Formats: sequence, structure tokens, C-alpha cells
Amino acid sequence: MSPFFAAILFHGLCLSHAIDFTTVYEWDRFDFVWPSGADTSIEQINQKFIPDVEFRFMAVFGERLFLSLRMNDRIPATLVWLPTSGTSTAPKLAPFPSRHLHKQDNCDSIQRAEGMETDTDGWLWVLDNGSSKCPSKIWIFDLLSNNDTTIKRVHQFPDAVVSHAIGARRLCDIVLDKTQDDFLAYITDAESEQIVVYSRQMDKSWSVKTSGKWVSLALSPDREARQLYLRRYGSNELFSVSVSELKNEGAISAAVVKLVGIWTATPYRMLIDSANVLYAAFHNRNYLSKWNTAEPFREQRFHEVGDLGAHWPFTFALDANGILWMTERNETEGETETRHKLLKTEFGVRSYLFGPTASTSTFSFYAIAILLFVCCSVLSGPVITWLILRMRRKETPLMQISLDNRAEMSVSVDSAVYDDVGPENSNTAPPEEARPENPDEPLYADLDPEPLTSADCDYVIVRNPSPEPYEVPLRLGNTNAGKTTNEK
Ligand SMILES: *[C@@H]1O[C@H](CO)[C@@H](O)[C@H](O)[C@H]1NC(C)=O
Ligand SMILES: *[C@@H]1O[C@H](CO)[C@@H](O)[C@H](O)[C@H]1NC(C)=O
Ligand SMILES: *[C@@H]1O[C@H](CO)[C@@H](O)[C@H](O)[C@H]1NC(C)=O
Repeated sequence: MSPFFAAILFHGLCLSHAIDFTTVYEWDRFDFVWPSGADTSIEQINQKFIPDVEFRFMAVFGERLFLSLRMNDRIPATLVWLPTSGTSTAPKLAPFPSRHLHKQDNCDSIQRAEGMETDTDGWLWVLDNGSSKCPSKIWIFDLLSNNDTTIKRVHQFPDAVVSHAIGARRLCDIVLDKTQDDFLAYITDAESEQIVVYSRQMDKSWSVKTSGKWVSLALSPDREARQLYLRRYGSNELFSVSVSELKNEGAISAAVVKLVGIWTATPYRMLIDSANVLYAAFHNRNYLSKWNTAEPFREQRFHEVGDLGAHWPFTFALDANGILWMTERNETEGETETRHKLLKTEFGVRSYLFGPTASTSTFSFYAIAILLFVCCSVLSGPVITWLILRMRRKETPLMQISLDNRAEMSVSVDSAVYDDVGPENSNTAPPEEARPENPDEPLYADLDPEPLTSADCDYVIVRNPSPEPYEVPLRLGNTNAGKTTNEK
């Protein structure tokens, strides 16, 4: 074993404990739990059925995982569930709550499920964009009831809040704000410059004007100064708005959004844990990034895999026990050969809905993590530097070594590059030629928005590019000054 390899392995051992996913299920192709009995519409779908299923959003409660699927007329449901364990083979997708609520263009059915969330009372909130015939809705199911037929709420958005017109709305994602005596939902609508708010207590919705159209969103756990983070439509820009600006129905002035930072790619899924760390998954990227929202914006990669070739490569959710559940979509062999995995990892922190982290176990988890990180940085940095200097003198063909050991090194070396938290660590990253993985790739991908391909919350970008290119100087603070808002 070469000393170089030994050092890299040592560094890798220290860092890779941060993320270690277990595969729960693997699917080569999907099947659904098809209802029995006479149902001609289901037979028609069954004949057209193509097992190409694309997961959108995920929520988890107890022993069940809920997934929204990119809707098309060849699949029998847009919302399905799976058991989190207990089956040896990859399970079939079961329409949730039942096939009866998935009749196309029947407005008493779910038409197109998008963002989802489970609240701490065991209620599942599903955002339904509707269809060309049916307006959009929020569906709330009680997961603790004996069977899933208990629908707690079906709220159809009034035309004044979310347009009933075709092409005038594009509901994407939802987060929940647990207040003293209510649950509020904040919802993005990528077709209009507003944030939609829904109160569970009042069963009422309203919209708050903003300057900008928003796609993905995440809510901070901090109760006093709760921030809603928003990814701007057609861009990599991340903004924030104080939720206090959203709670008042009928506010005349637009809510003030602030630019927080710019991601390396376009995130379609963001989630904040109870310790204020925001996680993001990006279109056409095989990595996940994070940012500690208590600090100035700084994107760090925390998980990276090989080529996936997928537009929506991952979707994830955190459960009440601190387990992160994630799906991975591998489309490299083309759509018909698409493979999926369900992965999980012990995270030790729960979602933003469980409030700011106060538990000692989480604290010690972090203390240990920091200690380990410091130990790794301090010990392995100089070792690597020393070895590199030594090897340069010996003129060892580095490329050969790196190819031999690529499998072992890819994760750890990348983590070292992206995970350099402390300023003291910035000098310890190996020099350019010592990075074994794709040395000609830039450290971060360029900021061009993705050429989006599939029909989702973002796809209009292709036809209707963002009016503001990145070269425009970024405005901080009151970005609405002098702008008229776009009401529909
Ligand atoms: C669900 O429960 C209700 C009452 O608890 C019952 O009337 C209904 O038949 C049940 N439905 C199913 C599908 O089991
Ligand atoms: C949501 O529904 C509207 C109206 O039918 C439609 O124009 C839009 O494309 C839909 N958005 C998504 C993401 O499906
Ligand atoms: C995706 O599938 C391709 C082809 O089977 C494979 O070579 C590649 O390693 C897979 N990617 C991941 C991240 O597993």
C-alpha cells in the first residue's frame, strides 16, 4: 500500500462517517398494486402502463413512505405509499389513499400531487396542482385513523388565491409552520409573484405578493425569527423572507425578500433540519449540498454518487426518529432501463417541524462530529501535504495510483474538497494535480440554469427564459422597490 493511498484512506475514514446510506429497496421496474374488480378506466391505464415512474416529493410517517409521482395517463395514481420495511423484495406502489381518489379529470380526485409534508399530529398534507379541468387543492389525510379514508380537509383554492385558469398556476412545494394554535402552510406558485398561505384552523387560504416567482422552498425551525427560504424560478438564487410578513391576510405591500446566496445548480428540493442545516437536491446533478443557515451562505457537498443522468435524481424526507430517507434515480441506460433505490441513513436530527434542536443527544452528536472533524483536519492535512511533496520529488505517476484506488477515494477526497469548514483547513486541501477525481472539471459547476426537459415546476424556462440574467447586479434588501407586482 502506497503511503499516498494510506493517507487518503485515513482522511476518508474520518470524513465518510458523516454520510453512510443503507439500501432498503432496489427497483429495476415498478409495478403498482392494481385494484381488483370491474373498473374499465383502470384497465385502459393498465394496457397503456409503462413502468417509468418519476418520484417528485416524499413524506414519511411511522412505517410508511409517501411519494408523489410525475403524473401522466399511463400510471394509475399520482400519490403512492410504500412500507419502510418488512418486505424482502422491492414493494409495489400502492395508490394512496386508494385508487378511488385517482380518477383523471374527476375533480373529487387528486389530479397531480406535488409537494407533501406530514405534520406532528400525523396528518399528511398533499399539494394538488389540479388539471386542465380541476382547480388546485390541498388534501389533508389523518394517518392515525383506522384506515386512510379519513380525509380531514379538502381545500380548493379560490380563483383569487390560485388561478383556476389553464397555464396560470404551477403549484410546486409546501412547508408547514406550527404556530401556537394552528398549522400554516406556505406554498410556491411558479406562475405568479406570490406566496400562498393556508391556515388549517380557519380552513382558509390567501396570497402574499412578492417580487419574484418561486419554485422550491424550506422553512427554518427557529420559532422567533422563522425564515422561509425560496429558490427563485428559473435561477439558482436563494432568497429568504420572514414568515411574519406572510401571516397577515390582506397585507397591502409586498413581502420583502432578501437574496441569501447562489447555489451551484438549480435546486428542486430543499429541507431544513431541526439544527438549522438546509439540504438541497438539484436538477441534473449527482450530488446533494448543505448549508448551515446560522452562518453566511456557503454551499458544501455532503453526498455525491457516480453518474445518474436524471433530471430529478433524488428526493428525500426526514422522519421523526432522525432517519433520512432518500430515493435515487439512475437513468444512464435510458428511460426504460431506469433503476431506482430507496436509501436511508441515521441522521440524528429531525426535520424543522420538531423545533430548534435542544436535545442533548443531538448536541453530543454534533460535538463528536466537530471533534472528529478537527482531528481529521489537523492530522491528515499535513500528512497529505507532506506526502504530496514527497511524491512530487519521486515523480510517481499519480494518475495510475488514483485510477487504481478510485473506488475507495472518490467519496473521501471530494468531501475533503467541499467540506473544508474551518478557515484553518483551507490550506490543507490537496493541490490540483493530487485530486484524483476528474481533474479537468471545475470545482463547482457553472451557474447557467439547466436546459430543462421534463414537464415540472421548472419546465417553462425553456420557452420563457428568466428576464434577469445573472450578470444583473444583485439587489439586496427591498427588492420590490419600484416594481409592480404581477397579479393573476
Ligand atoms: C374505514 O373505516 C370506516 C370507519 O372506521 C369504515 O366505515 C370504512 O368501511 C373503512 N373503510 C375501509 C376501506 O376499510
Ligand atoms: C398545474 O396546472 C396548470 C393548469 O392546468 C398547468 O398549466 C400547469 O402546467 C400545471 N403545473 C404542473 C407542474 O403540472
Ligand atoms: C447508474 O447505472 C450505470 C449503468 O448501469 C452504472 O454504470 C452507474 O454506476 C450507475 N450509477 C450509480 C450512481 O450507481
